[in-house]
Amino acid sequence: MSESLPLKARINHAVLELIEGDITKQDTDAIVNAANSSLLGGGGVDGAIHRAAGPELLEETRALGGCQTGDAKISRGYHLKARHVIHTVGPIYGGSDSARLLASAYRRSLEVAQENNIHTIAFPSLSTGAYGYPVDQAAPIALETVCRFLQGDHNIQLVRFVLFNSAILQQFSKALAHQIQQQPGIVLPA
Ligand code: APR
Repeated sequence: MSESLPLKARINHAVLELIEGDITKQDTDAIVNAANSSLLGGGGVDGAIHRAAGPELLEETRALGGCQTGDAKISRGYHLKARHVIHTVGPIYGGSDSARLLASAYRRSLEVAQENNIHTIAFPSLSTGAYGYPVDQAAPIALETVCRFLQGDHNIQLVRFVLFNSAILQQFSKALAHQIQQQPGIVLPA
């Protein structure tokens, strides 16, 4: 990756960082699951989180009664390092309101974290796998939504994007560089 692309920024009292890795290995207070509306598990991130958390996770999510696209619900993390899983449902790419629903999935996840006194949270790249959202369109929506939330009033200290490969990491870093350029309150950490 060219050295000019940022991997970290400071917004008010919060740090936003981008890493390449596996969401199930993160030791943040919460990790975000790229779920479907049934909340009964699936493949990709959803499958990996359920495998790592253990069967009690499905027992809890089964009782949550599903989740609307763009909304988010919280559960315990069980055998994961993270105490909580915030299950959100991103849009399947292509609908007229895909961008609005993708932004909503990120924002609602942060609102649920705030409501549950969670200070550190890790996101995967929502909707960019099975749901087909092109990463070059999803990354700017993700970064703009998260940066806007962090510029407001909240108790979040760390938002970490955990990206599955270097190509996705590069797209998110380009989007972060754009946010830093556009928003004076978003700065590279000292
Ligand atoms: N850690 C981090 N990122 C991961 C991991 C992982 N362990 N596994 C996959 N990814 C990446 C993918 O490369 C993709 O960039 O997460 C992104 C989201 O991919 P999906 O998990 O396919 O999620 P999404 O596109 O939102 O589709 C959700 O897929 O698994 C089902 O039940 C789920 O129906 C829902 C749909």
